[in-house]
Order: sequence, then structure tokens, then C-alpha cells
Amino acid sequence: MNQNPLVPGTGWVSVLATGQRPSRLQRQGRYTAESMRHPGKMLPAIAATLIEAFTLPGDLVVDPMCGIGTTLVEAIHLGRNAAGVEYEADFVHLALGNLRLARSQGATGTPQMACGDARSIATIYRALRGKAALVLTSPPYGSHTHGHIRSGRDNGGGKIDKRHHRYSTDRGNLAHQPLPGLLDGFGRILVGSATLLRPGGVIAVTVRPIRVKGELIDLPGQVIDTACQNGLALTGRHAALLAGLRDGRLVNRASFFQMLETRRARDRGIPACATAHEDLLLFQPATDLPEANR
Ligand SMILES: C[S@@+](CC[C@H](N)C(=O)[O-])C[C@H]1O[C@@H](n2cnc3c(N)ncnc32)[C@H](O)[C@@H]1O
Repeated sequence: MNQNPLVPGTGWVSVLATGQRPSRLQRQGRYTAESMRHPGKMLPAIAATLIEAFTLPGDLVVDPMCGIGTTLVEAIHLGRNAAGVEYEADFVHLALGNLRLARSQGATGTPQMACGDARSIATIYRALRGKAALVLTSPPYGSHTHGHIRSGRDNGGGKIDKRHHRYSTDRGNLAHQPLPGLLDGFGRILVGSATLLRPGGVIAVTVRPIRVKGELIDLPGQVIDTACQNGLALTGRHAALLAGLRDGRLVNRASFFQMLETRRARDRGIPACATAHEDLLLFQPATDLPEANR
């Protein structure tokens, strides 16, 4: 009997309860305190759910835009090997700290990290071609969706301010590209990542809609279009909850900043809601699938 929540069959679910514990508690003791400053981290439970669904111990998991290394940390705790690329040297340093911590806590998988531009991942990890069971990543969305808030009480009585909401000022970081540039770069990263997949391997992308100047942008839809234009086929789509789920009702875990933005949008007459989930998109190379499923 198939009990995999992400593969059609008996255990399949459309909504994954990945937000049962707040992000801070999911990371407590498992990630270094300094790595919390990264502006757009993946929930560890999302990474762990995907890794358990699509890989076995000893398999290889790759994250081409790995930030502070959530995918890699969860992979090595589950006995998988892991390879990551991150553009920013500062985040590579944080990821290495998290990987060291995981190893000191008994994680048995072997990690490797590269600092570089994932648009060249096929070259960076040439030796891993055809070896990955899972590529798991999420694109950067720019400064408007991320960040940590400091209230007047925390910053000496000033106004509310926002920290850690930028990845860097480097234009090579896709977070700073206008949307067409971000999607073009992400398409190139998907093409390169697909060369690392072993037959039957899966590419999983977590992404959420964004609001830019009040306008709702369907980033998941645009990522699907980009992937399909670059030789991939969508094989699954799920909601990975950021909110908790208790007695059939959502427990809000939206940040202070999200709530503030939502309230401001509503004041302007825009029917905004705080985000309660990430879209989890599953892809495989179209050439791996029977023609009828492409
Ligand atoms: C949404 S974050 C990923 C966070 C990660 N999943 C984690 O939990 O830490 C996207 C990351 O992509 C990185 N990035 C942006 N452009 C890149 C590029 N061209 N090559 C590699 N990484 C890039 C950003 O610096 C950022 O850390």
C-alpha cells in the first residue's frame, strides 16, 4: 500500500501540515542563532517531508539556492547526502555553521557546499550529473516579502523598523532582478539542476504568490510556465502549510510585517489575506514521462 503523501495513491494529500510548530521552534537547537538573520528561510518541516517522500538513506539531495542550508541540514539528519549552491558568501558561512552543528548532533549524511551562481550548477557539480534523487529549492522573491521587524521598544524608542529584508546589494543575486530576470535566471537553474537528476528523480519548488505595489503576482503560476518552457512537466501540486492546523481550523503564524502589510492593503480597499501556505510544485523532465503525461 502506498503511504507517500506526495505520490498519488492511498496516502496522497493535497495539504501538508508542515506548520504545526512555529518556524522558530522548528529551528531551535537545530540551527545556529546567527543563521536566523537570513530573510527567506524554508520551513524545516517542508524540507523533511519532501526528503522522506522522494528519497532513501544514502540518496543525494541538491539545493541550488540553499540559503542557510535548510534542505541540506534536514537531508543529512535523515541520512541522505546533500549538495548545495549559494550565491552569497555570508549565507554560505551560515550554512556551513548549520551543517557543522547537524554533524555534531549525529547527522550521518555527507554534505557539500559551493559558493557560486547556480545558473552554472551543471558545471559546478559536473561530478554529480545523473546522481540526485531530489532537487529541492525555493526562489528568492525580493525584499518586499521578507524581513524581521523591530518595534520601538526594541530599538530605543524609535519607529518600527525592518531588518534583514535584503539578501545583498549584488545584482547577480536573483532577488534583485525584476520579475522577468528572476524567472529567466530560475529557468536556467532548473535546466542545470535537471542534469543532476538520476532517472525518476524529482525537482520540488516551494513558492508563494507575492504582492508588488498592491498587485497580486501569481509567482507559482509563473514558475510552472518557466519550468514547462525549460523541458520540465508538472507532476504534482500541493499546499504546504505555514499556518498551524488545530481541530480543522488554521492557526495564524503570519509575521508582524505580513499582518501590517495585509492591514494596510485592506485599508486601501485591496482584499488581501496573510499567506498561510507555500505552493509546493513537483516537476520531472518531460522526457522521463510517457507522452500522455507531459
Ligand atoms: C528563498 S532563499 C532560499 C532559502 C533556503 N531554502 C533556506 O532555507 O535557507 C533563496 C536564496 O537564493 C540565493 N540566490 C539568489 N541568486 C542566486 C544565484 N544566482 N545562485 C545561487 N543562489 C542564489 C539567495 O541569496 C537566497 O539565499
